[in-house]
Amino acid sequence: MTTSVITGATAGIGAAFARRLAGEGHELVLVARDTKRLEEHAQELRQRYGVQVQVLTADLSTDEGIAAVESRLADRAKPVDVLVNNAGFGNRGTFLNVPVDDELTMLKVHCEAVLRLTYAATAAMRERGRGFVINVASVAAFLPRGTYAASKAWVVRFTQGASRELAGSGVRLMALCPGFVRTEFHQRAGMDASGIPDWAWLDVDKVVAAAIRDLACGRVVSVPDLRYKAVVGLAKLTPSALFARVSTKAGRRFGPR
Ligand SMILES: NC(=O)c1ccc[n+]([C@@H]2O[C@H](COP(=O)([O-])OP(=O)(O)OC[C@H]3O[C@@H](n4cnc5c(N)ncnc54)[C@H](OP(=O)(O)O)[C@@H]3O)[C@@H](O)[C@H]2O)c1
Repeated sequence: MTTSVITGATAGIGAAFARRLAGEGHELVLVARDTKRLEEHAQELRQRYGVQVQVLTADLSTDEGIAAVESRLADRAKPVDVLVNNAGFGNRGTFLNVPVDDELTMLKVHCEAVLRLTYAATAAMRERGRGFVINVASVAAFLPRGTYAASKAWVVRFTQGASRELAGSGVRLMALCPGFVRTEFHQRAGMDASGIPDWAWLDVDKVVAAAIRDLACGRVVSVPDLRYKAVVGLAKLTPSALFARVSTKAGRRFGPR
């Protein structure tokens, strides 16, 4: 039986990973802060897909929360085959308008938790000679914009580096870089997403389907959808000062992603 641990599994992209992996018969461990919501989601998945689903309440912005998930990942008696590091959030506002503590919390969830959970998971996976880690980054990783983009750029580079260093071990890592996805993300951050054009939105289940396809193909970085592959290609070719001007303007209108 395959066991998958998904962080941020109660909403948006994490919930879509949970549905998809449950549909493929995986046993699940769902991680988030809201226990009631976790239990409800777990029950729904058990009933719909007939798989075992555990809930693990943990706040990944705290050492205790990260440690609780680390110890589940390190439990050799209950091996984990797939880890999806997905939990994340946005802060509304530009640099100096966001309290520095909120920026540090973001780095804790997006970087420290991802590092420590990947470490715990891959150490156990390497002993068994198999396993997968999907780290959810963002197209923002390729844009010169604020702490959110910088944290996601770290996720991409970290995943690429760890993937190279674990090559041949049977353990594979992939960074997933979606563009705008309809989830609770923007609303939770208090961002006004009404100006984002319809064509720019991605469907959450299609994002997850693209991620699973790209993982199967052995990609280390997955950018779902041609529209966003073009954005990333353009970002790589355009001088960063010019791209910074354009993307900062867009960021002020639509908020970070
Ligand atoms: N939506 C987009 O446009 C978009 C685009 C690119 C990348 N992403 C990335 O995709 C990932 C998922 O975002 P989403 O759009 O699905 O957001 P979402 O709908 O707001 O869901 C976020 C999930 O993360 C959990 N979470 C948040 N903070 C947490 C913490 N401190 N500890 C544990 N769990 C926490 C939330 O549950 P609780 O509140 O119960 O903890 C929830 O389950 C994030 O990493 C985000 O940066 C999103």
